[in-house]
Amino acid sequence: MQFIDLAAQQCQQLPDGRTIREAVDARIASVLDHGRFILGPEVEELEGTLSAYVGVNHCIAVASGTDALLSALMALGVRAGDEVITTPFSFISTAETIALLGATPVYVDIDPVTYNLDASKLEPAISTRTKAIIPVSLYGQPANFPVINAIAESHGLPVIEDGAQSFGSEKNGRRSGSLSTIGTTSFFPSKPFGGYGDGGACFTDDPELADRMRRVSRHGQARRYFHSDIGVNGRIDTLQAAILLGKWPNFEQEVEARGRIGAAYSRKLQAAGVTTTPQLAAGNKSVYSQYTVQVDCRTEVQAALKDQGIPTAVHYPTLLCQQPALRCEHISCSRGCSTPVAQSVSQRVMSLPMHPWLSEADQDRVVNALVTAINQTSVSFAA
Ligand SMILES: Cc1ncc(COP(=O)(O)O)c(C=O)c1O
Repeated sequence: MQFIDLAAQQCQQLPDGRTIREAVDARIASVLDHGRFILGPEVEELEGTLSAYVGVNHCIAVASGTDALLSALMALGVRAGDEVITTPFSFISTAETIALLGATPVYVDIDPVTYNLDASKLEPAISTRTKAIIPVSLYGQPANFPVINAIAESHGLPVIEDGAQSFGSEKNGRRSGSLSTIGTTSFFPSKPFGGYGDGGACFTDDPELADRMRRVSRHGQARRYFHSDIGVNGRIDTLQAAILLGKWPNFEQEVEARGRIGAAYSRKLQAAGVTTTPQLAAGNKSVYSQYTVQVDCRTEVQAALKDQGIPTAVHYPTLLCQQPALRCEHISCSRGCSTPVAQSVSQRVMSLPMHPWLSEADQDRVVNALVTAINQTSVSFAA
């Protein structure tokens, strides 16, 4: 069994009768024919398709989810001496991009139910140096944007949704990417809308921010060989945009399948009653980028599942505030941070195989093996 079965994806049939592989092959061939490998027409087509789907006026396709975050922070003018508030429970990019600009990540603990930034702890973390807030929509469900946005607005602060894991999810009927000042996402192959390489995007309704993000992600170039800003080479490849467009017609079906499989996992695991299951906050629709449970004796449970040929993963075993690269002395942080919920959760979470083609039989195999492993490890733990 695969943790995420990307090979199965290529065999899926699109509404026009072709497989994803055939559609992607045709898109790649078209790029090889026209030869506009940098910022070819597929980039603009992808941006138009994604902005319409997300429900915002502007999409800027970039080279990765990391570049999307960097472009967003640079467009907002974040620099040395600034603070950016975020969650300690995320992939490194969320804080790495803040530190790369010489700013300081300030961590707010997570909600014990959704694992997203705890909005009730946000306000005390805001200081005169705060320049932006980056909540992460972890494991596929949006953070508490109505409350976070209201607090941010009362302080005149922009909010960037790190939606690398949540493209396709919704909060109160609005899609991830449209939930705050700027939304970012990743097209890393294992993400809900994954390409076959690196890619990412920024979303916003603000025309000035859109303009700045486009500029900074393209060497700060205002016009050919005239550079108004310091920027980066953060362009998405035309080939990657073409691949994403080839896969696009299947995406909504994949989102539906993810929701269905996530709900089925939860039903089966709740019936067994041996572990926590993901809980969705009111108004949230998750894309289950990860299906993550909490277990005691995680190392033993993972080993028992591995013996049964079932892969698992831990997202994330080390908090951002504990990463050697982000130690306080490296990022000029004297604020300290108190994140006991994230600390406890990071020691217990474990993600199960999850993708839109996970069969009912495989779901049952995972659930049965997990129940057996938990029962066995808790017996031997007690003994
Ligand atoms: C929460 C989060 N933010 C940012 C990123 C960075 O995306 P990318 O790998 O496309 O740079 C990831 C990717 O794993 C992620 O999970």
